[in-house]
Amino acid sequence: MDRILVLDFGGQYSQLIARRVREQRVYAEIEPCGGISLQEILSRGYSGMIFTGGPNSVYDPASPRFDSAVLDAGIPILGICYGAQLIAHMAGGTVSPAENGSEYGRTAVNAGGGALFRDVPPQSVCWMSHTDFISAVPAGFEVTAVTDKCPCAAMGDDERKIYAVQFHPEVTHTEYGRQIFSNFLFDICGCVGDWDPADFAEGIIEEYRRSLAGKKVLLALSGGVDSSVAALMLHRAVGRNLTCVFVDHGLLRKDEGDFVEDTFRRIFGVNLIRVNAGDRFLGKLAGITDPERKRKIIGEEFIRVFEEQAGRIGRVHALAQGTIYPDVIESGKGASAVIKSHHNVGGLPDVISFDRLIEPLRDLFKDEVRAVGSMLGLPPELVWRQPFPGPGLAVRIMGEITPEKVRILQEADAIFRQEVEGAGLDRGPDQYFAVLTDTRSVGVMGDARTYGYTAALRAVSTDDFMTAEWTRLPYDVLERASRRITNEVPGISRVVYDISSKPPATVEWE
Ligand code: XMP
Repeated sequence: MDRILVLDFGGQYSQLIARRVREQRVYAEIEPCGGISLQEILSRGYSGMIFTGGPNSVYDPASPRFDSAVLDAGIPILGICYGAQLIAHMAGGTVSPAENGSEYGRTAVNAGGGALFRDVPPQSVCWMSHTDFISAVPAGFEVTAVTDKCPCAAMGDDERKIYAVQFHPEVTHTEYGRQIFSNFLFDICGCVGDWDPADFAEGIIEEYRRSLAGKKVLLALSGGVDSSVAALMLHRAVGRNLTCVFVDHGLLRKDEGDFVEDTFRRIFGVNLIRVNAGDRFLGKLAGITDPERKRKIIGEEFIRVFEEQAGRIGRVHALAQGTIYPDVIESGKGASAVIKSHHNVGGLPDVISFDRLIEPLRDLFKDEVRAVGSMLGLPPELVWRQPFPGPGLAVRIMGEITPEKVRILQEADAIFRQEVEGAGLDRGPDQYFAVLTDTRSVGVMGDARTYGYTAALRAVSTDDFMTAEWTRLPYDVLERASRRITNEVPGISRVVYDISSKPPATVEWE
């Protein structure tokens, strides 16, 4: 299997670059530029490397660099944005700050010549985002693209197979970005394009079958796509030696706990322990209104429940987690401000004793995890499940959480989801749900005055959940959902639609 190294210089699109490569069925992995040596790169036998963009200027001595011997290592290289400037700088060219030459957004580019631009028309649109530019091209390189403001929008050295583009081919606004990657991967690096996440997963299952034979494995199953796929892979590898613990904290969506249990225990025959701990969680949450406190309480209680179950099972050899590749990459980066303390099962290894931590999905992106899930026969409702926060409905009930409010929200949310799905829109918004606000308002039903809660409906469209736009759901879908919720759910007398994007709002209300 061919492998491409994406050497990360701190760019915001590094993951996108890796995904673009994998979309062409070539395996790509990301390493921070300070985390790998040239020696290591050579020993791994990469077919090519991509230097990412980054926020720095190459003439700042503190900017990230790499051993310039890499240019003569015989591995094809594609530099993007900062990566392009770094190649120019390392190879003896000049990078200058643009006085009024910075370009941002869609930009007309004239390209031609060199292997990188095969089948790319002379005039097209690219996506630019830069201030510095390559003002003098190093010896051995030829300029292969220009824009109005940028005398070197791309350059290449066909002999050494080193290429650099000032623009971002990974962004969809670059019309021929896909072609450029294809040229680099197949023509220049000689890759075959045989990467298949499902085959890859089969290989991992086979490896676990050998290394975990006769050993006990424990996994916390949430019913989310990641832990579900991890569970099925391990079930295929070790069968009944896998125990999945599914903690139902009573804050799941309507009927979800039963669906997860049914799927795993009855359909797949997984050794599953469901812990119905709703009363326990709701007891701890009584009277709590602060969102962060709610999250902390649920996170701590979750660990406690899991720990108790693990204690009953006895010593396990391995603890399995559904960590996926973006989690692995992100955990290697510096701390950013805590907007919300996320609760995932990632904290568990501290409290349970085991010899080995296994993460079957740690090399896969989300879309690849879904492909593996389909291959393993996971029902589409689970494969395509929208994200659901670990603390569940607790972060969708404003103010104090009571069993009654949980029931009201479960009903309203189920109706909203039915209406979105019934309209054939279930693959439209990336996440959609109802929120129970703590605002009550006056209504009228029959001849009687009501004083019920206001439910808010939320639907967002997003690529990565870091930013999100509110989805323009059709009015008639909203109308049906509103009518049904106010008619069918006692306790709700008003429905509003949330039209805030992220930022400045977040997806969840708490
Ligand atoms: P926010 O509200 O931060 O949400 O814009 C972004 C995405 O993350 C999900 N989310 C969580 N997921 N544990 C999770 O596993 C959490 O505590 C949590 N909080 C938010 C949210 O549903 C959205 O998809």
